[in-house]
Amino acid sequence: MSTVLVTGATGTLGRAAVPALVAAGHEVRATSRKPGRTGGAETWVRADLATGEGLADAVEGVGAVVHLASAPYQRAYTREVDVAGTARLVAAARAAGVDHLLLMSIVGVDRVPWGYFRIKLEAEREVARGGTPWTVLRATQFFDLLDTALAALTRLPVVPVDRGIRAQPVDTADVADLLVELVAAGPARDTVELGGPEVLTGDAALRAWMAATGRRRRILPVRGPGRMLAAFRDGAATTPALPVGTRTWSDFLARRYAHRTSRE
Ligand SMILES: NC(=O)c1ccc[n+]([C@@H]2O[C@H](COP(=O)([O-])OP(=O)(O)OC[C@H]3O[C@@H](n4cnc5c(N)ncnc54)[C@H](OP(=O)(O)O)[C@@H]3O)[C@@H](O)[C@H]2O)c1
Repeated sequence: MSTVLVTGATGTLGRAAVPALVAAGHEVRATSRKPGRTGGAETWVRADLATGEGLADAVEGVGAVVHLASAPYQRAYTREVDVAGTARLVAAARAAGVDHLLLMSIVGVDRVPWGYFRIKLEAEREVARGGTPWTVLRATQFFDLLDTALAALTRLPVVPVDRGIRAQPVDTADVADLLVELVAAGPARDTVELGGPEVLTGDAALRAWMAATGRRRRILPVRGPGRMLAAFRDGAATTPALPVGTRTWSDFLARRYAHRTSRE
């Protein structure tokens, strides 16, 4: 099998995707700015999407690029990495004759009026017009992100929750499995979506998290302000796409907090 370059290999999804690609028989070249655990990747190459440094070497001799790198919530730097950086990567891939560039994106980028989502939509457009055969995979929020958000929210003694918000979070292992399938299938020149197996309301997700972690908080029902939360209430971050991921929020919590000692 040809070499697969994984950008953002040290990130949350990268740490699941690299071992999944290796297990599927690919030679994996991992890249990011700082070396990290590479999950069995054969090689690690330093490249910086914000400057373009290292990209030509990273794509040299590669059959497919799985582009997971992103720098969310960092204002102008986010655009430099996610939009201009994606354009730099696509240009380098085209020059190196890469057969397939697969971009990781987010369900709802075309519906949720939020800066980071708009930037991801622009990144998708760079890939579609970049001249390298492509696929875009949009996934819903990862369980890890929900876990981090709830850990932060429950630092408050009373947790404000908009019960109308609906999300369909997914396990990175399910995303990694689909990435492996999409690499094997070759360029779709299309957008594929993946959601988790359940649509959860904010309070259902929080109650399950509190039960798993032992951290108890009072829930204060609120109606979140703004167009972004309205879009989440309308289900813009969920997808009717099939098949869905197989691992549930409860599975994730059981795995992550299996050995917990009571926190408080
Ligand atoms: N998190 C979610 O819930 C979610 C849901 C759907 C889709 N997605 C998408 O899935 C992808 C992966 O998300 P994630 O949560 O795994 O991200 P993450 O944990 O934040 O990891 C980001 C990765 O990008 C690399 N990176 C950042 N800036 C870079 C730069 N200038 N040049 C090269 N590499 C750089 C980081 O490594 P270094 O710092 O070492 O460079 C890291 O490996 C993203 O495209 C994201 O939009 C995420």
